Amino acid sequence: MINSTASGDPRLLGRAIKRIAYDEQAIAGRVRELGAEITAFYPDGDLLVLGLLKGSFVFLADLVRQIRRPLHVDFLVASSYGAGTISSGNVQLVYDPKTELEGKHIQLVEDIVDSGRTLQELMGVLGARRPRSIEICALLHKHIAEHLTHPVKFVGFDAPHEVLVGYGLDHAEDFRHVPYVASLE
Ligand code: IMP
Ligand code: MG
Repeated sequence: MINSTASGDPRLLGRAIKRIAYDEQAIAGRVRELGAEITAFYPDGDLLVLGLLKGSFVFLADLVRQIRRPLHVDFLVASSYGAGTISSGNVQLVYDPKTELEGKHIQLVEDIVDSGRTLQELMGVLGARRPRSIEICALLHKHIAEHLTHPVKFVGFDAPHEVLVGYGLDHAEDFRHVPYVASLE
């Protein structure tokens, strides 16, 4: 089944997507709710919103504009495979945030939780820097993350077990700029 709106989308390079899983309106509505939840959750103190690149860049940009309190933004690039600069366990921080984490509330922002391996490793690395708190916010959660011991505090949508693209998520680096989330054939 090909969604008629998406089938003519010039961003898709003529490739077939199966269906639109979450359209722009649904995402915007849920991101507003997540922003309100995060705003209400945090007590006073420094809040650092830490986005995992590249997948979170669209989500994070929308999310931080819905959080009604002071905050700072930084990013990190983690790789489970590549030759990175800083290694700890199996995760490599290809870009390590320059911002001091100690004593701050850290809100990690991820596009999608699949196996949870990346986040599990990262929680160890970042937790060792003595933040005041550290929580995860993911746009999508496949709920198959057997490796993740830390609960994902803020979840946008419980995702189907499919390959999802768009709104920052890629398949071989394509589709990140598609403004909705779609599943691939
Ligand atoms: P995990 O460590 O297995 O949870 O992998 C998480 C990472 O894999 C996410 O940050 C995504 O970048 C990527 N990923 C997992 N599932 C998908 C998907 O369906 N579409 C696009 N990227 C995905
Ligand atoms: Mg990715």
